[in-house]
Amino acid sequence: MSIGTMSEKIKITEAKLDGIKNLPSLPKVIMEVAEILRKPNVTAVDLAESIGRDQGITTKILSIANSPLYGLQRQVSSLEFAIVVLGFNEINQLLTSISISNALRQKPNEYFKFEEFWNHSLVVGTGAKNISRELGFPELAADAFVGGMLHDMGVQLLINYFNKQFLEIVDKYKDSDQSSLEFEKQTLGITHQEMGAYLARKWNLPANLCNSINNHHLPSQAESDKILVSIIHLTDYMCEYLGVLPFYWDKNLQLDKSVIETLGFASESQLFDFIENYREQFEDTEEYIETL
Ligand SMILES: [Fe+2]
Ligand SMILES: [Fe+2]
Repeated sequence: MSIGTMSEKIKITEAKLDGIKNLPSLPKVIMEVAEILRKPNVTAVDLAESIGRDQGITTKILSIANSPLYGLQRQVSSLEFAIVVLGFNEINQLLTSISISNALRQKPNEYFKFEEFWNHSLVVGTGAKNISRELGFPELAADAFVGGMLHDMGVQLLINYFNKQFLEIVDKYKDSDQSSLEFEKQTLGITHQEMGAYLARKWNLPANLCNSINNHHLPSQAESDKILVSIIHLTDYMCEYLGVLPFYWDKNLQLDKSVIETLGFASESQLFDFIENYREQFEDTEEYIETL
């Protein structure tokens, strides 16, 4: 494809994104909870009361907090207890990622099952949180969780707002050994990475999260937050490599080998030993999710 046609496509897609009238707004519950958390002397009961009105969100918070990769030492069985054990900030991160995924939820189709997407997001979020700590970046664990949970949110936009192109892309992608990104670029000029980052920016999500969404397939291209983006990319790749809760849209996902250096591995084989060491925890998470 000539450069002219490609930049034309990018312009058209971006203009289309700008023109989407019914683009969802940042879920209200995020603002409400932020408001509550700003109040002095806020208690776990206040927060539980506000979040607890939504049973769906409450159930999801508990299921994530109890999943093996999340790393809690004990079972949390009520929202209030979860707030006490995890603290306000962590509950806020859980709430943010759950409500954003929900807000972008769409009708299922043959190639996109929300449940598959959700389970994959959950393992990437909790896995990335765990891996940040293990690799010596505990300060990134919180952002790695939210970034991992939201990394593929652009796919939800692709299906919701570019359905015709989505079907065109699927048609070429389904029997191919190339990644979905290649076909997204051919058809739209941009990929689900830029789409997700577009919405994240519109919602004023922190810059490092926008960056993670924008570069999660190719962390070497990230201009900043390279470590965070690399952790999310590696965890996403691990799902594919280990065959645990993979996402259809990640078929043929390639490892960006820049993560070896960025994350401080001595060699490629050391990285793969690290991945193998996680196999059991990933499989346990898959098993746990299946019981939900
Ligand atoms: Fe992706
Ligand atoms: Fe993914």
